[in-house]
Amino acid sequence: MSTPLIQVTNLVKHFSAKSGLAGGGGNVVKAVDDVSFDIFPGEVLGLVGESGSGKSTTGRLILRLLEPTSGRVTYGGQSIFDMPKNDLRELRKQMQIVFQDPYGAFNPRMTVGAIIGEALELRGISGAQRRSDTSRFLEMVQMPANVANRYPHEFSGGQRQRIGIARALAVEPQFIVADEPVSALDVSTQAEIVNLLLDLQQRLSLTMLFISHDLSVVKVLCDRVAVMQHGKLVEVGDSQQIFAAPRMEYTRELLDAIPIPDPARARRAA
Ligand SMILES: Nc1ncnc2c1ncn2[C@@H]1O[C@H](COP(=O)(O)OP(=O)(O)O)[C@@H](O)[C@H]1O
Ligand SMILES: [Mg+2]
Repeated sequence: MSTPLIQVTNLVKHFSAKSGLAGGGGNVVKAVDDVSFDIFPGEVLGLVGESGSGKSTTGRLILRLLEPTSGRVTYGGQSIFDMPKNDLRELRKQMQIVFQDPYGAFNPRMTVGAIIGEALELRGISGAQRRSDTSRFLEMVQMPANVANRYPHEFSGGQRQRIGIARALAVEPQFIVADEPVSALDVSTQAEIVNLLLDLQQRLSLTMLFISHDLSVVKVLCDRVAVMQHGKLVEVGDSQQIFAAPRMEYTRELLDAIPIPDPARARRAA
């Protein structure tokens, strides 16, 4: 087996949850509780679990968008939490995140072209090259070049997600954390975006952590699946094996929650 691109070792993140009313209290939420796993180059690892199980926190820690309570994450052998800020800035160009709704992350006063151009600028690309690269990245997400002159609010959720993906790709990352990237979209748009991600991942040999509470999407995209429950990793394995024979009751329950899309099959199952 190849060397992991990312190694997560005994990762812990506690949040202090203030118990509202009296404004005091101070319970600790163990959002990520001693989690270890590897991500190999070119693979899509699914991170699944019910809402609140610690998936987003794990994803953000791996990108060091959050500081850990304890534990270690290495990227290409380098420990990201020990890294000086300058090195981290360089490393950030190799790692990108795609959010559930990229709209919140877009500056509403920037055109699509400016949004993608900003990402290109990180790689020192300007002028005519910047314009042609903007068109190229829009083309990659199957958007026409002329959308560069328009603003994010003019687009549907699915189109905005395409723009968010184009911005992430413009940095030419090796690794992408996709945090529930299709959860806010209607079912047919979900399928389009999942197919786009799958196609891009294969064409560009991207390594991806794909976070989702929806296992039907994970089944299509992921080589391996890691299952979280209450901040702990309860099961990791090959996608096919986990879908065929989950070891944990919790995983089985998540799988049972998958709606059956084909009405004929649903009738037979009833
Ligand atoms: N900034 C924060 N402050 C306090 N608690 C948080 C914060 N972020 C997440 N949590 C808590 O940590 C737990 C895990 O959250 P999260 O990682 O967002 O789960 P998931 O993505 O699986 O839904 C939840 O109980 C959540 O309320
Ligand atoms: Mg989340």
